[in-house]
Amino acid sequence: MPVPVIVDCDPGHDDVFALWLAAGHPSLDLLAVTTVGGNVPLEHTSRNARIALTIAAVAGVPVAAGAAGPIARKLETAESIHGENGLGGPDLPEPAEPLDDRSATDLIAQTVLGSPEPVAIIATGPITNIAIALRDRPELLGRIREIVWMGGSTERGNWTPYAEFNAWVDPEALALVVGSGIRFTMVGLNVTHQALVTGAVRERLAAIGNATARFGDELLEFFCRTNEEVFGMPDGPLHDPVAVAVLADPGCLELTHTRLDIELAGTETVGATSVDLGGVLRREPNAWVAAGLDVERFWTGLADAVARLA
Ligand code: RIB
Ligand code: CA
Repeated sequence: MPVPVIVDCDPGHDDVFALWLAAGHPSLDLLAVTTVGGNVPLEHTSRNARIALTIAAVAGVPVAAGAAGPIARKLETAESIHGENGLGGPDLPEPAEPLDDRSATDLIAQTVLGSPEPVAIIATGPITNIAIALRDRPELLGRIREIVWMGGSTERGNWTPYAEFNAWVDPEALALVVGSGIRFTMVGLNVTHQALVTGAVRERLAAIGNATARFGDELLEFFCRTNEEVFGMPDGPLHDPVAVAVLADPGCLELTHTRLDIELAGTETVGATSVDLGGVLRREPNAWVAAGLDVERFWTGLADAVARLA
């Protein structure tokens, strides 16, 4: 029985591959997509999510726009990695489907409450929309299967020395979601930095040869170039589909149940995800944290999903 999922995202190059894995993997049933301001402003992320589905000829999946920015801070974006429109590289087609006129909160609530099976939420950007939905619609708390989020790190950050970008943008939302009591899995840089787009990976994905793979290769050309320019990482880490793999193919990741706290007040450490792997603080475990990735199995799953799309 496929797992019903909602993807909340900020496309962004790697978010597109997360959407394609969610749409193309037989173990998942992509029910809805919501968008948030993150890599680029909401107008772009909302258009880009629809373009990702258009390229893959995924029809009938509603896309609703959510929060333009964090719940308590000013939005910081990442055009240096994703370009001005969020999908630097290829020419972008017109989206085949209009933006859904519901808010992200309403689409999440109606999807979750209308599903006979508990729905999982996969978030691949700042987790603002999920925090707002849980805050404003408390009846959802008992109906969401789990939340899997790409963000944070058990080690260093990428946007600041201590904070990963998604956590940095909206740490207050992250703290609210982690504190909600819903099963929460963090897929941080410590594993997504193993999902490197090497030359061999690019060749493998491009060889699929369909329209989705061709568009994806143009995205990866740009994404690898900017990751080298900004982070000195020529084989760009494809972060977001790793979070989808947690539900698509659980054997692909090693998870550990541990304590996760979010730094909200540090001068240099705001957005840091404090993961107490050694249990030194003796606090109750409150999250599952990805600790290992079967890289070959991950790329095989992503390639198979892309091959199933247009
Ligand atoms: O730090 C990586 C994360 O920030 C990814 O989700 C990427 O898309 C950006 O949102
Ligand atoms: Ca993202």
